[in-house]
Amino acid sequence: MKAAVMRATKAPLTIEEIDVGAPGPREVLVRTVATGVCHSDLHVLEGALPNPVPTVLGHEPAGVVEEVGSAVTHVAPGDHVIGCLSAFCGTCEYCLAGRPNLCEGEATLRRPDEPPRLSKDGAPIVQFVHLSAFAERMLVHENALVKIRKDMPLDRAALIGCGVTTGLGAALNTARVRPGRTAAVIGCGGVGLSAIQGCRIAGAARIIAVDTAEWKLDLARRLGATDVVHASPDQNPVARVAEMTAGGVDYAFEAIGLPATVRQAVRMTRKGGTTVMVGVVPAGVNVELPGADIVLREKSVLGCMMGSNRFRTDMPRYVDLYLDGRLKLDEMITARLPLERVNEAFETMRKGAAARSVIVFE
Ligand SMILES: NC(=O)c1ccc[n+]([C@@H]2O[C@H](COP(=O)([O-])OP(=O)(O)OC[C@H]3O[C@@H](n4cnc5c(N)ncnc54)[C@H](O)[C@@H]3O)[C@@H](O)[C@H]2O)c1
Ligand SMILES: [Zn+2]
Ligand SMILES: [Zn+2]
Repeated sequence: MKAAVMRATKAPLTIEEIDVGAPGPREVLVRTVATGVCHSDLHVLEGALPNPVPTVLGHEPAGVVEEVGSAVTHVAPGDHVIGCLSAFCGTCEYCLAGRPNLCEGEATLRRPDEPPRLSKDGAPIVQFVHLSAFAERMLVHENALVKIRKDMPLDRAALIGCGVTTGLGAALNTARVRPGRTAAVIGCGGVGLSAIQGCRIAGAARIIAVDTAEWKLDLARRLGATDVVHASPDQNPVARVAEMTAGGVDYAFEAIGLPATVRQAVRMTRKGGTTVMVGVVPAGVNVELPGADIVLREKSVLGCMMGSNRFRTDMPRYVDLYLDGRLKLDEMITARLPLERVNEAFETMRKGAAARSVIVFE
């Protein structure tokens, strides 16, 4: 099958023919229909998130089940599915505590003595976060998939695989935004725009979008932002948000992954409020925070892994929200590209010129 292989950091992905195995008892072979390009893929490509090579990136997919292993119960051939990197074992302490997004079980991986799921000429290719979705087929554990309604368009379903679940979940699950409250979202890419939509769906009264790109702010308004702040060297977004909200917001979401904007998010948070760190700060980078501000003004700073999801139940609900018109996904897709143009999608992301690019397979 055709796949975009990452052989080194900071180098273009190469389109290659690679081999995919046959499903083991609990594995599923999925024909990939669409895969969104998330900034976390770019983080890996740039070495900000270390990952062994060669690998096949891509972790925001939707597709159609082709073949299932003998013990698979969740899906059957022909089913439409979304893949999620939050594969859950179902038996570890985190899964049992209702936090499967933090699963640390290994039952969803192949054992070292088994042949790898992906290879080329007999040499293993590392599967990226249970998925490797920049490829025509994905061989995954059934617990990395959720079955969805067949009337859901698969290119838009793909966005739910990571960015939408992360942003919506940051608001609905991690922060548990309450109706009538105020929120700010710094960074309006696929993740931040989804956090804005999560705040709108939760009934937040005021949702302030912050970004350096003017067109992202226009899009943010269409998706639910009530106010926007153009972040630029001469416009301190913290002071603007404080002015707009008489001292700060109940919830501030950072959806970029920069120490400076994490600090801004903490400063934008009002007394007793919650800052949610959603953007991935590169490995090894520390964030200095205003300690007294957090302690004396009793602010909570929360990490958010994949929107604190329970994706098997969350994602079908998000699909319903889209089909009801309450979750807007059409507007979030800036470009649809074939796999051969995946490097262009990363270039566009580096320039901040896309909300989401989606790789579509024939
Ligand atoms: N926590 C999780 O589980 C999780 C899941 C998915 C993605 N992420 C992370 O979330 C972050 C965002 O991902 P994305 O795919 O939406 O990225 P993206 O590149 O599409 O969006 C980033 C946005 O931030 C804006 N921006 C950049 N610098 C800014 C600044 N100084 N002030 C204001 N705005 C600024 C850009 O204009 C862009 O709109 C990444 O770090 C990604 O790795 C985290
Ligand atoms: Zn992602
Ligand atoms: Zn588990």
